[in-house]
Amino acid sequence: MIRAFDALSLPLLRWLDAEDAHRLAIHGLKLLPPMRPQTDDAKLAMRAFGLNFPNPVGMAAGFDKNAEVPDALLKLGFGFVEVGTVTPYPQSGNPRPRLFRLERDEGVINRMGFNNDGADVVLRRLASRASRGGIVGVNVGANKDSPDRIADYVKLIETFAPVASYFTVNVSSPNTPGLRNLQQASQLDDLLARVIDARERVRETAGDTPVLLKIAPDLGLSELDDVVHVARSRRVDGMIVANTTLARPSSLRETYRAKEQGGLSGRPLLRLATRMVAETYVRAEGAFPLIGVGGIDSGGAALTRIRAGASLIQLYSPLIYKGLGLVEDIKRDLASTLLRTGRESLSEIVGADAATITAEDWPV
Ligand code: FNR
Repeated sequence: MIRAFDALSLPLLRWLDAEDAHRLAIHGLKLLPPMRPQTDDAKLAMRAFGLNFPNPVGMAAGFDKNAEVPDALLKLGFGFVEVGTVTPYPQSGNPRPRLFRLERDEGVINRMGFNNDGADVVLRRLASRASRGGIVGVNVGANKDSPDRIADYVKLIETFAPVASYFTVNVSSPNTPGLRNLQQASQLDDLLARVIDARERVRETAGDTPVLLKIAPDLGLSELDDVVHVARSRRVDGMIVANTTLARPSSLRETYRAKEQGGLSGRPLLRLATRMVAETYVRAEGAFPLIGVGGIDSGGAALTRIRAGASLIQLYSPLIYKGLGLVEDIKRDLASTLLRTGRESLSEIVGADAATITAEDWPV
């Protein structure tokens, strides 16, 4: 059924403007007929941040920014869905066009700029589906014109704690001017202190909601030292590595499109994101688990990312080129690898190659 959907929809969606195609995909998912969610192979289960994930493959932030289709995505086989980025107030984002496919590179450039319906609307949607269960994380960010960005994050934590399975503190979008500065050690320390404090304040009514930090792949290694140090000292529950990159690898074939401003994702991000996962893993020293994201477009790429240090993975851009069948392909390949190598669970191989990967030449 998913394969048939891919076979029909992929050529059509690729023919449309990228943002129109995205809208249509969301509409299509809203119309998904009732179907029983598949039961995952028990070997694919992963426990992280105190949550039990049925499988390690998540939908990355940015696809379902407004929490319109988290249940459809869970039914299609994702082990978890991250909605957002949500900001306190609705925001229209940058002018269109702002989303571009780099077809021959299987990449995407976006400069959406946190277009979203705002906290009130997204909260209502999440509250109305809360009883259905499933792991739905909420990715939070600041309004572009906010006078106090840290206060935005704090407000969102308080607002969404009752309905969020976890939070992602997004300080890594390149499309809100200055946002990435929140990754600098002293600002990050202030931000995380206040976010964790907010989480503690609402714990009694909302429960213990894990807080993850999502970083850019463009941090230098000494900046990464600082970020991981601050994340550990503030006791965040995990990190997501990584957001889109401002780099334009020389290997890109769509050189004209590559000049568009914004963050690059998909296949051209794969090697850098893998390296950043490994670099983060060796610095975290087991203090918290990682979610790996960026260019994961096959079972092999998923396995490599897990061996680099990711306990869980997320996908977005590769779905544009491979279709939703990619989720099943990855799960099947991971399960068969475990069977073939006689392992009981993926947790046995998380980070197995991190040290080796960090010793390789830097990916360009
Ligand atoms: C994103 N991404 C993103 N991340 C985030 O934290 N908040 C957001 O709102 C968005 N928005 C967004 C829009 C679009 C169109 C794209 C392509 C991406 C980044 C995304 O979650 C992910 O980190 C990167 O895209 C790398 O993964 P993929 O796409 O290569 O699998």
